[in-house]
Amino acid sequence: MLAVCALAFSAAYALPMRVQIPAVHRSPAPAMGLFDGLKGAFSNDDTLGARSNAGLSKEGTKRTITWVGPTGKEKKSIVVAGQRLKDVARAAGVPVKYDCSEGSCKTCEAQMGNGKIKICVAKVIDRDITIKYGLRQKD
Ligand code: FES
Repeated sequence: MLAVCALAFSAAYALPMRVQIPAVHRSPAPAMGLFDGLKGAFSNDDTLGARSNAGLSKEGTKRTITWVGPTGKEKKSIVVAGQRLKDVARAAGVPVKYDCSEGSCKTCEAQMGNGKIKICVAKVIDRDITIKYGLRQKD
């Protein structure tokens, strides 16, 4: 009895060997009114020529700052000369501690080459440098 039911079920629900997949007929893109007008307004204008930098007339030279923490952990920042070192450190996630932020307390003092700098008031110079920060703190 069970075998007869299983045979009847499989005969009733069996898929044909060849399945015809109908061709996809797509309708043309629907008109979007205002949005079609915006698409045209923001499309590229090929008559303008090659793309160029519309900002600064000459791009600044990029320099690398290597931050070395008290434990020797290093991080690198790509910078342009003249940037505030405090902003660069913050962007790189370098944990420098500040107190006065005016250059008078030496909380943020760091070693650059043979000299010492105060990160809160210093600016990036025009060469690749290594800064050892956290002289007065531990990571
Ligand atoms: S925070 Fe005081 S000297 Fe930099």
